[in-house]
Amino acid sequence: MPFMEGSVGVEDLVLLEPLEEASLLKNLRLRYENKEIYTYIGNVVVSVNPYQQLPIYGPEFIAKYRDYTFYELKPHIYALANVAYQSLRDRDRDQCILITGESGAGKTEASKLVMSYVAAVCGKGEQVNSVKEQLLQSNPVLEAFGNAKTIRNNNSSRFGKYMDIEFDFKGSPLGGVITNYLLEKSRVVKQLKGERNFHIFYQLLAGADAELLKTLKLERDTSGYSYLNQAVSSVDGIDDASNFRAVQNAMTVIGFSKEEIQQVLEVTALVLKLGNVELTDEFQSNGIPGSVIHDGRGVQEIGKIVGLKSEVLERALCSRTMETAKEKVVTVLNVTQAQYARDALAKNIYSRLFDWLINRINESIKVGTGEKKKVMGVLDIYGFEILEDNSFEQFVINYCNEKLQQVFIELTLKEEQEEYKREGIPWTKVDYFDNGIICNLIEHNQRGILAMLDEECLRPGVVSDSTFLAKLNQLFSKHSHYESKVTQNAQHQYDRSMGLSCFRICHYAGKVMYNVTGFMDKNNDLLFRDLSQAMWKAQHPLLRSLFSEGDPKQASLKRPPTAGAQFKSSVAILMKSLYAKNPNYIRCIKPNEYQHRGQFSSELVVVQVRYLGLLENVRVRRAGYAHRQVYKSFLERYRLLSRSTWPHWNGGDREGVEKVLGELSLSSEELAFGKTKIFIRSPKTLFYLEEQRRLRLQQLATLIQKIYRGWRCRTHYQQMRKSQILISAWFRGNRQKNHYRKMKASALLIQAFVRGWKARKNYRKYFRSGAALIMGNFIYKSIAQKFLLGLKSNLPSDKVLDRRWPAAPYRYFNKANQELQQLYHQWKCKKFRDQLSPKQVQMLREKLCASELFKDKKASYPQSVPIPFRGDYIGLQGNPKLQKLKGREEGPILMAETVKKVNRGNGKISTRILLLTKGHVILTDTKKSQAKIIIGLDSVAGVSVTSLQDGLFSLHLSETSSDSSKGDILLVSDHVVELLTKMYQAVLDATQRQLSVTVTENFSVRFKESKVAVKVVQGPGSGGNSKLICKKKGSHCLEVTVP
Ligand SMILES: Nc1ncnc2c1ncn2[C@@H]1O[C@H](COP(=O)(O)OP(=O)(O)OP(=O)(O)O)[C@@H](O)[C@H]1O
Ligand SMILES: [Mg+2]
Repeated sequence: MPFMEGSVGVEDLVLLEPLEEASLLKNLRLRYENKEIYTYIGNVVVSVNPYQQLPIYGPEFIAKYRDYTFYELKPHIYALANVAYQSLRDRDRDQCILITGESGAGKTEASKLVMSYVAAVCGKGEQVNSVKEQLLQSNPVLEAFGNAKTIRNNNSSRFGKYMDIEFDFKGSPLGGVITNYLLEKSRVVKQLKGERNFHIFYQLLAGADAELLKTLKLERDTSGYSYLNQAVSSVDGIDDASNFRAVQNAMTVIGFSKEEIQQVLEVTALVLKLGNVELTDEFQSNGIPGSVIHDGRGVQEIGKIVGLKSEVLERALCSRTMETAKEKVVTVLNVTQAQYARDALAKNIYSRLFDWLINRINESIKVGTGEKKKVMGVLDIYGFEILEDNSFEQFVINYCNEKLQQVFIELTLKEEQEEYKREGIPWTKVDYFDNGIICNLIEHNQRGILAMLDEECLRPGVVSDSTFLAKLNQLFSKHSHYESKVTQNAQHQYDRSMGLSCFRICHYAGKVMYNVTGFMDKNNDLLFRDLSQAMWKAQHPLLRSLFSEGDPKQASLKRPPTAGAQFKSSVAILMKSLYAKNPNYIRCIKPNEYQHRGQFSSELVVVQVRYLGLLENVRVRRAGYAHRQVYKSFLERYRLLSRSTWPHWNGGDREGVEKVLGELSLSSEELAFGKTKIFIRSPKTLFYLEEQRRLRLQQLATLIQKIYRGWRCRTHYQQMRKSQILISAWFRGNRQKNHYRKMKASALLIQAFVRGWKARKNYRKYFRSGAALIMGNFIYKSIAQKFLLGLKSNLPSDKVLDRRWPAAPYRYFNKANQELQQLYHQWKCKKFRDQLSPKQVQMLREKLCASELFKDKKASYPQSVPIPFRGDYIGLQGNPKLQKLKGREEGPILMAETVKKVNRGNGKISTRILLLTKGHVILTDTKKSQAKIIIGLDSVAGVSVTSLQDGLFSLHLSETSSDSSKGDILLVSDHVVELLTKMYQAVLDATQRQLSVTVTENFSVRFKESKVAVKVVQGPGSGGNSKLICKKKGSHCLEVTVP
């Protein structure tokens, strides 16, 4: 047997090698012993009851299975529930979960696991949670009223349950509908050894508080009730008292009112108390045996609980009214009949209460009609039963299982194979057992066992269970799946186990022998009208409502449909509903008969493996394809995987699918293209596709998000930008407007000022205040005019020396007057200068030079000013002798005068003639016509002169000149100012040098090699006759006394 890494045995029986019953069993056992109770056959879960709590459930595991695909984790019911739920939510396919298996195989537990998983993963929210809670809480209520301990199972469901959970388009639960099938009501009055009545009775007695018990007039002790099996009042592992509280709580959660809960408990108590109503014989006066109630207390208590007169109940229990069209006949019932009537009433009340409970729950969890729903159906129906003594109940139960097997065959085996054929997929047929023939045997409308039973029940005349059996024997004598003593005898078969009142049906799950005793009765399921009428008379609202046919107004003589017919039609409805949905299978297997953990009885399991058809299931699965889908919907789902088909595809569906799958480069064995569908061999490929799709969806989502975010940001940005532009436009506009307003206001202000100023200016002259100024101005101007005109007429003479000038009439004209005087004087000078001859100009220049040299320095200067410079004082013009003295010197003689020469040696004075030419100073003797001394002007270094009136001056010759040997010359001139002026000018003209003229009384003269200090003193007399006297004082000093 191949082992997969990390797994115990093979997790999927499809991988089993070799594929045989023995290896299959071995694999299941190996896994079971390693506490791996779940194994797959493709998408079918095979579950082997562990009879122990395994640590593989709860929120942690739910979360795990929710995030993984089917084959990624160990096989589990959660994985199946996940696939079903996701397919419902994502692919919009209604689902049904079919849980099959024997009693005690774990169906109910499995259904609860499915429900808890779905509840945990489907939507959230207050409303959704309350719906979930209601759906989940329906379980404890239904289990309390519908489950009981049997020999096989401590919590055996004694009814079939099909629950549709309805979801909205998002996959959030909206509510649901529960359908129940055939409650095993016979259990109410009688239980097999080792079994119990329905849990609720024990729960009520154990869990109700004293007060409740008192109001219900019950005793806590179970042994006081004949309907409760005294031998087994409690079950290991079941706490009735706490379960009772759980049931009460669950009913509240579902929405039962307090009164309703109370009424339900009252009716339950009524059933219990009914069992204690003892009936005894009483012979009537005519000797016919009748019956009475032994102890009226019980009936009275019942009457008090449900508000019913005890006589009414007693009469109903002990007599029967036969009603025909014409008359009413009351017959008394003997004890057996009365007991039968009592038990029938108890069973009826209980089963009707159960139906009412289901309806009441449905009312709470029902969904409004308007909403579009997706449905997940969970079927937990009683398992195939083979008891020692099988009666009508087993017959219908097994019929139901037969039908479910048919669904399985139809949907997984037959339909699958036929589909391959239809689709033209190459296929080797796998043989399997088709149980259609057995279903037909039971349910055929005219020739089925149920039809025969109904016919017998309705047929007038003497009818009994044995006439019914005879009919069957006659009809099915040749049927391969029917056996009875009669048919066996006919075929000369010897079978001791076959009783006379029995028939045997070879079901798909094995042969079952049914005892026909009670078949007719149970099928008729009739309650004497007296009883229903009595119940209707009760004050108790719930009880009354359970027996509405007891209302005389509603009384009809029409027979209600038989139990068999009802069951058949409800099974038919169920089948129709299942066929419309996508099936998911949980095949439950019971490992041992004793509810022991860890025990794996191969004999027991192999039977179940066989009738569940697991091996065939594996074969078909192995040969077939795990998944198929019509091209259109497949393409719709996966076309986003290929660039050629996404986002647009114009070609055909099949071509599109080929394109998509072609691009994914899947192995060709994995795929088969049918006529209308694509077939995918292994789930792995499907999961691969799903994974690819998930990734692609993420990509697309990211793309959409990206584009959306981009768009959002862009729009936001554009809006922001628009707003910003708008705001800045407004802002700028506003700012400019304000600015403009200010400017305008300022301009207006300035304009106003300017205009005002202009206006004021224009009008200022008209102002009184300006008049004074104008008048002042005018007066001032006229005074000035008068002054100037007066001055014009009074101008002094234009002689330069005339300094007269009229005084200003007003002090403020002083400055102007001075200016005018100045101007006038300058004008006069100019005029005077303009009329001068060049000679006069020359003379005046000389005078100017003299002034510069001597003014304020020399005392004789002022006298020299008015006397014009003549230059020639010796009559040179008329004396050619003198003119010769000039020699060859060119140019005129600038000065010619007789001067006195002081002898430096002795102080004697001698007369000489001095000639000054342009280049020389010539000194000559008055008598001689030869020049005595000729001194070049360039040799004259300077002159010294006194500040006094005298004419003494010294010619200092420069020591370096050629004339220096003569030494300095002391001379006395009468025209010393003129002479020195002319000499100054001649030196300037000849040598461009300013002659140094020193005005001093003490100077030294060079005499030969030594120097003589000359000291000039003022003589005492002042007058023309005083003379210049030179006295030698020592060899180096000469004192000159001047006049
Ligand atoms: N997965 C499980 N884990 C633990 N115990 C389980 C599991 N499944 C079933 N059991 C045990 O087996 C018992 C019987 O299971 P359950 O009531 O589900 O059987 P069933 O198939 O519904 O039988 P019936 O047809 O009689 O109703 C449970 O009470 C529980 O003790
Ligand atoms: Mg069950």
